[in-house]
Amino acid sequence: MACASATLLKSSPIIDKFEWIKGQNLRQPSVGVVRCHPTSALTIRATSYADELVKTAKTIASPGRGILAMDESNATCGKRLDSIGLENTEANRQAYRTLLVSVPGLGEYISGAILFEETLYQSTVEGKKMVDVLVEQNIVPGIKVDKGLVPLPGSNNESWCQGLDGLSSRTAAYYQQGARFAKWRTVVSIPNGPSALAVKEAAWGLARYAAISQDSGLVPIVEPEILLDGEHGIDRTFEVAQKVWAEVFFYLAENNVLFEGILLKPSMVTPGAECKDKATPQQVADYTLKLLHRRIPPAVPGIMFLSGGQSEVEATLNLNAMNQSPNPWHVSFSYARALQNTCLKTWGGRPENVKAAQDALLTRAKANSLAQLGKYTGEGESEEAKKGMFVKGYVY
Ligand code: 13P
Repeated sequence: MACASATLLKSSPIIDKFEWIKGQNLRQPSVGVVRCHPTSALTIRATSYADELVKTAKTIASPGRGILAMDESNATCGKRLDSIGLENTEANRQAYRTLLVSVPGLGEYISGAILFEETLYQSTVEGKKMVDVLVEQNIVPGIKVDKGLVPLPGSNNESWCQGLDGLSSRTAAYYQQGARFAKWRTVVSIPNGPSALAVKEAAWGLARYAAISQDSGLVPIVEPEILLDGEHGIDRTFEVAQKVWAEVFFYLAENNVLFEGILLKPSMVTPGAECKDKATPQQVADYTLKLLHRRIPPAVPGIMFLSGGQSEVEATLNLNAMNQSPNPWHVSFSYARALQNTCLKTWGGRPENVKAAQDALLTRAKANSLAQLGKYTGEGESEEAKKGMFVKGYVY
């Protein structure tokens, strides 16, 4: 079979390395690279963004830094605002997100921020593009691209993640808007199975999304969340995660995803939230690192854990325990609740509390930065930061 001509391939704009940090200048369109196997019919189009993807992933996975997940859907953001007595209006979401992105010095501890689509196109209350504020803080803007979870017919009341239709047009537009990485969160439920069907669907969806994102220049965060729900012990979580991560990486490889240009966002290996045996940070670290070594190639630059309903302090202690000796990957955080909870409560929707709320976010970001470096002591934490945030049947 003849090799497809490079000229037949659609061209895609590439931005020079880190040019986007200074502005949004576009370079001349260039054409993707084609590799043809001489003896077989295999033709693989490598993404024309390969070098840039590797650089973006490395920038996000830089020492002492992690990701601020602030990509709550409008419905979830509404629940957050409701908890402090605010209405779920665009203006209130804008006020809250303005507070988050403009914390002075945030970029010292935060390398990337995941945004919801509304925020990617939104300005701060002062009229500056949120994306520009992040770039000035040396924080890479990212975008949630999945369209949420719906019931998976034929399964045991499990779910699957929507959003592949039209994804390549959306990712191209998000890149133009300044996003440089993407997130797709799908979930696996231990009490509901997980069925082989649900695991396969989750893994395949993540792999298709990852390939499409890389083709648009966005580093995909691959997030197979194993929900905390359940009474099972830590060994059962280990067993399920082992299966899920194997399948995810199998399909990523099948879809020719460049491992150097992805970030993995897994759950830590912990007992179910309703299990009577609790695990220490040391146990969580031992189980999680053992599984990472068994399943995740060292080509993957960063493991950015979700917090999943752990308390702020618990999530930080567990991360710290995983960084007591060098790892092949950057082992860090991509927390939403475990970074934002005290900040949100401190703000309470009152302008006079903005500074205190920003300090609270900086405190958590710094604590997790120390944990990324294995130097967090847990001293001086507030009672609020020790409260668990597990919600049964959580939707994001
Ligand atoms: P939590 O850290 O609150 O579990 O959020 C995870 C997430 O998927 C955000 O992107």
